[in-house]
Amino acid sequence: MTLSDTIRAAFEAAFPGGDFSAVRVVPATDPKFGDYQCNDALKYAKQAGLKPREAAQRVADALTGMPDNPFSGVEIAGPGFLNLTIGGKWLAERLGALAADPVDLGIEQSGRGKRIVIDYSSPNAAKQMHIGHIRSTVIGNAIDRIFRSLGYDVVADNHLGDWGTQFGILIKGYRECLTDAERENLTVANLEKCYVLSAARAKEESGEWKEECRRELVKLQQGDEENLALWRKFIDISIGEFERMYRRLGVKFDTYRGESYYNAKMPAVVERLVALGLAVESEGALVVKLEDEGLGVAIVRKSDGGYNYTTSDLACVEDRVAEYDPERIIYVTDDRQQLHFKQFFSISAKLGCRARLVHVPFGLMSYQGKAISTREGNLIKLDELLEEAVKRSMEIVAPRGGDERLAAQIGIGAVKYADLSHDPGTAIDFTWEKALALEGNSGPYLQYAYARVCSLLSKAKEAGAAPGDFVAFASGAAAAEKRLALQLLEFPGAVRRAAEAYKPSVLADYLYQTSQLYSSFYQNTPVLKSEEPARSSRLALCALFGAILRKGLGLLGIETPERI
Ligand code: ARG
Repeated sequence: MTLSDTIRAAFEAAFPGGDFSAVRVVPATDPKFGDYQCNDALKYAKQAGLKPREAAQRVADALTGMPDNPFSGVEIAGPGFLNLTIGGKWLAERLGALAADPVDLGIEQSGRGKRIVIDYSSPNAAKQMHIGHIRSTVIGNAIDRIFRSLGYDVVADNHLGDWGTQFGILIKGYRECLTDAERENLTVANLEKCYVLSAARAKEESGEWKEECRRELVKLQQGDEENLALWRKFIDISIGEFERMYRRLGVKFDTYRGESYYNAKMPAVVERLVALGLAVESEGALVVKLEDEGLGVAIVRKSDGGYNYTTSDLACVEDRVAEYDPERIIYVTDDRQQLHFKQFFSISAKLGCRARLVHVPFGLMSYQGKAISTREGNLIKLDELLEEAVKRSMEIVAPRGGDERLAAQIGIGAVKYADLSHDPGTAIDFTWEKALALEGNSGPYLQYAYARVCSLLSKAKEAGAAPGDFVAFASGAAAAEKRLALQLLEFPGAVRRAAEAYKPSVLADYLYQTSQLYSSFYQNTPVLKSEEPARSSRLALCALFGAILRKGLGLLGIETPERI
């Protein structure tokens, strides 16, 4: 039960039958007035025919009468505000309960028995991953971890772009544009190269090359063995290389079902759309008209008889529902695909889809102030970005005796956090200075805060001191200490809010604020040098902060080395 839930229960007891869903407590504007305040009693006074202060008094009485009332002080101020002071005993108990739950740290297991599919990363095969792919991978993986922590059964599905006209161009290019050596030692870089060369020739005026690419594609679609074997080879090589990247990033998928998997299922979906009168002919194509919803027209079969991205996603959703019966499917892609998702969600609903479909769109990432594009020639490969991250963090950790592994933990953590600390919906600019800063809102800052608390705890151990229970709070705690303690209790709520909003940034913000509060606590309050029982109580607070920081960073996919 959160503090807001408690105060709602008190409103309910004071004015039975009302709707108090909007009632909440907020942190006090000034610690002089307590820890929290609630300004909602005024709103209900009139309805109850009471003066505002009388209404507030009723809530206060109800609160004081509650068996596990968290507040030791409830005061009425001004026109009917409630000033609330958290009781030491209650706080000590709550902190104790969190510390006694080291795996979940109070995170409610609200997802038990529920399944969701998360579709993320999903790069196109035969192309190297570049820095444009990092957002879907990192944001998607954090959402994946956050939902798992809430007890959901998550299926992480990498929806590879592994089907389409590009494969005709690739097969032709593979046969004609590569050297024997390149064919023998096929890499994604070689595939990319042969695609570029072949696509350029497909533009030739005679149209011969283009026609041959088309023929190869048709052969592939009709199941020609040789072409199918080549296609399989391209996909395997691509997945192999993507997996190398995922290993470095600590990202794991449960399944790699690309667009090709849904290929055979597309005609049936279109037939149903036609039978239901949803798809109609327009200039030789089949389309679903969504103008009434402001979503234009979605093509589901092109005039040449081919299917497209929309058809593929429609077939995919039906298949996922049939196989997994998820309560929700979450798609993480850049925001240029918003119309696509709105269209196909709307069509899926018309087809009776029972899963909730959610698109999490993210803004584009620029690099050091410049848009990332092939034309700009700054299409940085993900590989190179990660390499650079490790190299740069090596410069930071080497003087402290850190090794390659530590440099990787910090460098990769920095790249991830630079992304996750921003609301996914916003466009972001990546700069090395911000990402690797040791001060301010950065990955290394948080990792460093964690390492410091580990070192404090091991120093305590050497001195024969150990974290105890939280007794000091029962007998009055310093302001910074109490502020930190209250913030630590908010951890499960921060995880829940991050999931509800599909924004790992909510959790990142929480962790950053918590680390700042920890720092001001640590600067203002003696820990090792304090007397018992304050010492073991404060050590327990430090240990809980460390556990929460570790768990929280873990949910963002960021490692927490104990020494930096
Ligand atoms: N392959 C697509 C791209 O690179 C992303 C696929 C997202 N998932 C989906 N089911 N449409 O943009």
